[in-house]
Amino acid sequence: MILRGIDFGSVWGASGVQGFYGGDEYRYHRWLRLLGILDMRGLTFVAKTMTLNPNTGNMPIKEDGITPSELLPACVHVTPASWWNGFALNKVGLTNPGAEELLRRGIWQRRESPVVLSFMQIASLSDEPKLELAMRIQEIRAFVHLMRDALPGFRAPVALQINFSCPNTGPHAKTTLDFILETLDIASILDIPLIPKLAVDTSIIDAAAIAEHPACDAICISNTVSWGSTSVPNWQGLFGSPVSPLAHLGKPGGGGLSGAPLLPLVEDWITQFRKLDPKTLINGGGGILKPKDARRLIGAGANSVFLGSVAFLRPWRVQSIIRHASLEVT
Ligand SMILES: Cc1cc2nc3c(=O)[nH]c(=O)nc-3n(C[C@H](O)[C@H](O)[C@H](O)COP(=O)(O)O)c2cc1C
Repeated sequence: MILRGIDFGSVWGASGVQGFYGGDEYRYHRWLRLLGILDMRGLTFVAKTMTLNPNTGNMPIKEDGITPSELLPACVHVTPASWWNGFALNKVGLTNPGAEELLRRGIWQRRESPVVLSFMQIASLSDEPKLELAMRIQEIRAFVHLMRDALPGFRAPVALQINFSCPNTGPHAKTTLDFILETLDIASILDIPLIPKLAVDTSIIDAAAIAEHPACDAICISNTVSWGSTSVPNWQGLFGSPVSPLAHLGKPGGGGLSGAPLLPLVEDWITQFRKLDPKTLINGGGGILKPKDARRLIGAGANSVFLGSVAFLRPWRVQSIIRHASLEVT
């Protein structure tokens, strides 16, 4: 997928799947890699989402502030049945040491091929929704400031996913269309490709308005779907209970669903979006577990795809999906 004249590749990692820098991912990924079962070579590198300030979230981490310390973290819920059926629920909650620290380490800057960073505004003030949105606007301003200083140090081209859709950082005021457009206004100063990351419960009309923003280079769809969202017809059928198995962790909310149940939702979302907007580039993913799944999203109108939970749900298929999807994308 070409963004501002630069080839960012046709098969991307999902933010969160390759860790912050590419070598600090989940410990089970490392084991799967060592055993030769998981090979993520060929994926465009997309960093895990950072926030302006350090954020504790729900992921226990080592002293380096980024590497998960548990082999099978409790905030990523996979049962034998959900693994078999190809889905997971997570409530990682954007554990990270903050943008300044992540940029200071200079690791992204040394990468030789295009890098996609990811940022989310998460300031929280549950009783004051207007003030909360104003605080989050200040967050993107401060982040843009940090990025402007850091950009000259990057060897490779950089793009920025702006995550408007992580369900695990609440409580939040509803993210409004105006808020997203204002965020894009501010981030446009960076003069790098900007890719808002939305979820399938974002309305197509809003998404088309976001896509029209002059600084929006592509749309990324979809993030995990928030527990209880009506986009997913049968939560109880999936998890055997009306209460999320992750409800007890951290902030309110039951986590976000990834994997197979997302695929038809993302396919339908892209199909509907394409009726309104045939042109805006789309990086599509959610539930891609085999080459045929990537083909469905490309057929619906995605210009590139991304791979997420397949890395732990069907790791041995990652390379064949990359190979096939690279050929499918025009
Ligand atoms: C454990 C885990 C961590 C994630 N972390 C992030 C993140 O930091 N930022 C983000 O935008 N999405 C994050 N996601 C969402 C994925 O990037 C992706 O949008 C979602 O899982 C749907 O794709 P999939 O069904 O292929 O996994 C995460 C997903 C999982 C399972």
